[in-house]
Amino acid sequence: MLVAPSILSADFGHLARDVEAICEGGCDFVHVDVMDGHFVPNLTIGPVVVEAVAKAATKPLDIHLMVENNTFFVDLFAPLKPEFISFHIEEEKHPHRLIQKIRGLGIRPSIVLNPHTPPQCVEYLLEDLDMVLLMSVNPGFGGQRFIPGVLEKAKVLKELVEKRNPKCLIEIDGGVSDANIHAVKEAGVDVAVSGSYVFRHRNGIRHAIESLKV
Ligand code: DX5
Ligand code: ZN
Repeated sequence: MLVAPSILSADFGHLARDVEAICEGGCDFVHVDVMDGHFVPNLTIGPVVVEAVAKAATKPLDIHLMVENNTFFVDLFAPLKPEFISFHIEEEKHPHRLIQKIRGLGIRPSIVLNPHTPPQCVEYLLEDLDMVLLMSVNPGFGGQRFIPGVLEKAKVLKELVEKRNPKCLIEIDGGVSDANIHAVKEAGVDVAVSGSYVFRHRNGIRHAIESLKV
């Protein structure tokens, strides 16, 4: 399992310190939640802060857009050279066009599905995608409870991925901890995003990340 801690649960007064801690603690990607206050009822960080994150990080950035105007935000964050940019399909009229745009910028394209969105909606996009991100909570906040129904959805998506593009990764985001990571793995997920569990583990960040590497 690849692990992408979400810096939404970091101490923003010591952001560089916390980004260094997850990178030294063995994470694979640094998950960055960008919220615009419109697509989701929360507002987080823009390119100035994400640039500071990129400077402190020794692992690639995994940017998760939760915004209304995807193209605008892709252009805003592309200069920071993230590994992935994920955008929500619920908010995009022309997902195939945006995938091509992201790839043209030298970034790996990924689509996010909210809990209610069926996996079949990405079937004919899979051959052009490097990752599909399944939300296992409603996007907007850290520290919510994992929605178990997403495991069945992950299994359906895994079959589609095997058929259309086996190289495409499956990522899951929301409420992930050592309590569900084995079920997540069994459902075919490759990358686990985890915020509050990683940053608030009583035995520390390194231990938390190790416990997710199943
Ligand atoms: C929620 C974000 C998640 C969140 C995960 O909208 O996309 O990345 O920070 O946090 P936990 O692991 O606490 O659910
Ligand atoms: Zn996220």
